[in-house]
Parts: sequence; structure tokens; C-alpha cells
Amino acid sequence: LFAESTVELRNLVMPYFVVPGSGVLRESSANSGLWQVTADRLADEVAPLVDAGVGGIMLFGVPDQKSDDGSMLEAQLLPTRRATEALRQRFPDLVLFADVCLCSFTSHGHCGIVRDKAIANDESLAVLAKMAVLLGSYGIDFVSPSDMMDGRVAAIRGALDESCLYDVGVLSYAVKMASAFYGPFRDAANSAPQFGDRKSYQMPAGNQREARREWQLDVEEGADALLVKPALTNLDIIRDVRAGSDLPIFAYQVSGERAMLVAAAEKGLLDFERAMEETLVSIRRAGADVIVSYEARPRALAARAR
Ligand code: PBG
Repeated sequence: LFAESTVELRNLVMPYFVVPGSGVLRESSANSGLWQVTADRLADEVAPLVDAGVGGIMLFGVPDQKSDDGSMLEAQLLPTRRATEALRQRFPDLVLFADVCLCSFTSHGHCGIVRDKAIANDESLAVLAKMAVLLGSYGIDFVSPSDMMDGRVAAIRGALDESCLYDVGVLSYAVKMASAFYGPFRDAANSAPQFGDRKSYQMPAGNQREARREWQLDVEEGADALLVKPALTNLDIIRDVRAGSDLPIFAYQVSGERAMLVAAAEKGLLDFERAMEETLVSIRRAGADVIVSYEARPRALAARAR
């Protein structure tokens, strides 16, 4: 009766890693909770989640061919295109998100175009905008730029509008820390940087004021929803964004946040289900409307089994 914050399936979005080929549905490593899937298997895989009422699905394309200048985007995105079309056809009302970032698409594993071992921010914008337009044209509802280049929300919004994709929304990774918690994801997405780190485009965890500048810029540039990540280490930032903006707020419970709980539970140190519920409800209490979480899948399957 008196519960304030709760976690419902409709508040959760499930990420999937779309790989080329056919007949594949595999966990990236034992108990990672990160699922790689081919386009032909995705609709069947997602059906019970849709049935249970999951809030949405987020696609990350993981091409096996890499290109450092964005010239192969259409070919690289073909599995994501097939996956999107299959989901769109079978579940017309399912909300589909797709990642916009180059780290899985380039041989160096950085999130934008690289020149002389440094990110070429402005040159990256055109490639990211092209990626967003392609994804929008396949039937994605919200493109989700996680690349963290400056100015990409405006570039993407402008390119979508120029292509008459007015109804495609932008879920902006507004505050994304250069974090130690992305390890299992980089495995599943084949996206680890081959040199250096991401600190020239992702944020230092200690900077609260800079975080405010980051999400305010994204609002000015036309974002439709804002995302903060990781979630558990940024509950105060989620609260700040909630207080300062009336846009929908997303938080991403990232791969390493889940891995900590799995590893601790495997050692018998804590109860996974209770600890997971506590983290999710805390993220909601901080102010997140939606949580992108690998827990969406097991929760949906458990709800269906009941
Ligand atoms: C790509 C991206 C990353 C994550 C989401 N998009 C990794 C990174 O920036 O290196 C991490 C998500 C997770 O760990 O679950 N830019």
C-alpha cells in the first residue's frame, strides 16, 4: 500500500547484441546475462519478453568486418536491419532502440573516427548521423548515441529531419562516465579500444558540474530522452537530471554492475535476486523512469513461468 518506488517490467529495456550469420543465440560468457543473437532468431527470443510486458528492446550491432572510416556502414548494419525488420513485422507496438556508436565497427575500437591516434570529433559526426539515419529508415523508434562525441545529438536530429525521419526519437547518452564497469560489454560487443582509453570523450566520474553541462547541451540539441550510465555509481547524477529536466530519464545498469552481483552470489556472499532488486529499486528511487538492464530478460521469463 505504501510502496513508493517499484520496478515493473515495463520500466525495463533489454539489450541484445546482433551478430552476423544465422542460428545463433548464445550468452557472451557463462552467466554474463549478455546475449548475442542472429537476426533470424531474435523475434522468437523476444516473444516471451514482449508477452510479459517488457518496456523495449535495444539493439547493438556487432559486425565481423571492421572499417575505420564508416564507408561500410550499410553492410555492417545488415544484420541489425534484418533484426529490426523482423521485430517490426511481428511486434508492431514494441519500442525499439538501437545504439549509435562506432566502437564495434572500427578496427581500433574507438567510438568515433581516429586521426593520428586522437578522436576526430567533428569528422565523426557525419558518420554517426549517417548511422542514425540508416537505423531510423529500418524502423527503429529511438536511436541511442553512446559515442559521446560533442555535438552529435544536433547532428543526428538534423540528419533525421533532413531524411524526413521526424518520428525517430533520440535517446541521448547524456552523462556517460569513463568507467571500469564496461568490461563484459566490450567482450560481447567486440569493442574494446585497441590503444589508449575513452577519457577524451567519456566523462570523469568526479565531475558533477560537468555532468550538468553535458545533459543540458543534449537537451538544447534536441534530445527526446536522457540516459545516465553506469547507474549505481551515479544515483546522485540521476537525481540531478530528474530535478532539472522534464524529459524521460533512462539509466543503464551496465554489464559490470551485473557482473559484480553475479560474482558475489557465486561466492555465496549475497542473494542475487534480493541484491538485484535493491539496486534496481534504488535506481528508480533516484529518478530513472526506465532502466536499461540485462535483468529484463530473466525477469520476463520468470514472470511468464509463474
Ligand atoms: C559503446 C557502449 C559501451 C556500453 C554501452 N555502449 C561501452 C563503452 O563505452 O566502452 C557499456 C554498456 C555495458 O557495460 O553494459 N560506446
